[in-house]
Amino acid sequence: MLRDESACNTYNYGDSDYWDARYINESSFDWYQRYDALRPFLTKYIQTSSRVLMVGCGNAVISEDMVKDGYESIMNVDISCVAIEMMRRKYEHVPQLELQLLNFSLSYLKDMQMDVRDMGFFLDNSFDSVIDKGTLDALMCGSDGPTSASQMLGEVSRVLKPGGVYMLISYGDPKSRMPHINRPTYSWKIDLYIIPRPGFQKPAGSTSSPKSYLSPIPITENGMLPADYVIEDPDSHFIYVCTKINKNSDSSESLTVDT
Ligand SMILES: C[S@@+](CC[C@H](N)C(=O)[O-])C[C@H]1O[C@@H](n2cnc3c(N)ncnc32)[C@H](O)[C@@H]1O
Repeated sequence: MLRDESACNTYNYGDSDYWDARYINESSFDWYQRYDALRPFLTKYIQTSSRVLMVGCGNAVISEDMVKDGYESIMNVDISCVAIEMMRRKYEHVPQLELQLLNFSLSYLKDMQMDVRDMGFFLDNSFDSVIDKGTLDALMCGSDGPTSASQMLGEVSRVLKPGGVYMLISYGDPKSRMPHINRPTYSWKIDLYIIPRPGFQKPAGSTSSPKSYLSPIPITENGMLPADYVIEDPDSHFIYVCTKINKNSDSSESLTVDT
């Protein structure tokens, strides 16, 4: 996906027709990163027993990989009926050996066609975690991206339980994403990670180690990168881990401190 949002309108990423047409010709594809690369972040913030909502699942294999790794409940939603139909068919027609896995997966993986800007089907506070790999990015490429982003994020905040986590995996850097996610109305505490694109070769003399990607970046008070922070790979991906502050438990803590 393109970095420059003024250029991304050339592709209709915000339009369900674009995705339907694309998915007719594509069997499976994971945008940005595969499960293996994201696993350390997912296991750190999202327990396997969590009720997970995957917004804009497309035809990616990440939720299947999560189920194989022990995740027990994943709800996949996407605006593209072609993608959702494909996901359903995929789990109906697998070889015998995988049928067991299929049966196993089917009881835990559910697919549903839905616009993430209106997820009224789901009750408030009904998910422990929401995972978004490239879907906010797609909406922001559509016509009136900021309005779509605000509708989607309002819905994500609504369906997320207090203490729950919205994990946004995006190509957008903090300058372009923080103004949308770091809003008082959501009450999210945000940790930021930056990981290079798959296959990135570090420049000679680089001192960073794969381990260092697992440390959160110390962001400024308004959520920006420190002025002297250097991103090695200009096509890095940004992982925003947004934890919904549990206002009740916070106020009871401060009451205890005050007395
Ligand atoms: C960049 S793709 C990412 C797909 C998948 N999450 C992945 O990691 O490979 C964006 C996805 O968002 C979906 N999408 C776009 N607008 C949507 C909307 N308003 N509601 C639900 N899904 C939407 C598209 O159909 C597409 O599958």
